[in-house]
Amino acid sequence: MKPKNLKYPFSWEERRVLVQDRVWYVPEHYNDHTAFRFPGWNHPDIFGNDQPICVEYCSGNGTWIAEKAAANPKSNWVAVEKRFERVRKIWSKVKNLRLNNLFVISAEGHSVTSHYFPEASVHEIYINFPDPWPKKRHAKHRIIKLSFVEELYRILKVEGAVTVVTDDVNYSSEVIDVFSKLDGLKSLHQDPFYRTDLEDYGTSYFDRLWRDKGREIRYHQYQKQVSAE
Ligand SMILES: C[S@@+](CC[C@H](N)C(=O)[O-])C[C@H]1O[C@@H](n2cnc3c(N)ncnc32)[C@H](O)[C@@H]1O
Repeated sequence: MKPKNLKYPFSWEERRVLVQDRVWYVPEHYNDHTAFRFPGWNHPDIFGNDQPICVEYCSGNGTWIAEKAAANPKSNWVAVEKRFERVRKIWSKVKNLRLNNLFVISAEGHSVTSHYFPEASVHEIYINFPDPWPKKRHAKHRIIKLSFVEELYRILKVEGAVTVVTDDVNYSSEVIDVFSKLDGLKSLHQDPFYRTDLEDYGTSYFDRLWRDKGREIRYHQYQKQVSAE
């Protein structure tokens, strides 16, 4: 199956929320979020079982998550990617590698999470090389911001963890700053709050790109704490 075999399923006028052939579409600039009710991760149209849920935001071409899904069949893997030409690449991996435990979401990550993902339903979250948008006037495009991290906290199960990987030193500082604002998420690493290696973590297109250029890679990890109440 080639990426181009996946056709965008509706025109601009017909756009809606739709789950079809291992892809969940939440079109950009679509606002009627009451018209679709997420049926739950274990619904037959999604995974059809109760295995743990691992979500990767900003999946790109899906190299990292396809490898994880193949190596960890006892978990369910969800790739969230906003660019359709990349969604197609992930989808072709689902098909060609017969990855029944990998599902693709064609959507902006913050929006689909806040409108549809159930509370305390996700075991692990990964964000590998999110776009750093280094210019100040573009900062609003960065996915890591307090309101998004609050959503990650909401959807995580207790003791579930978020991993953010970046080569960008300024974005790394911002990740540490934003996560420090949420008491319920504790860093798994002591000051400076990241590690530069994580055994068996896996690799992605951007991981290889930056490593080949000699950049340092930073892994930030936070765990949802048991509530004090
Ligand atoms: C730098 S690439 C990293 C891709 C992949 N994780 C890797 O390591 O090779 C960032 C990806 O995030 C996607 N992206 C950026 N903002 C997003 C958002 N708010 N929601 C979903 N995907 C997003 C982009 O389309 C792009 O594919």
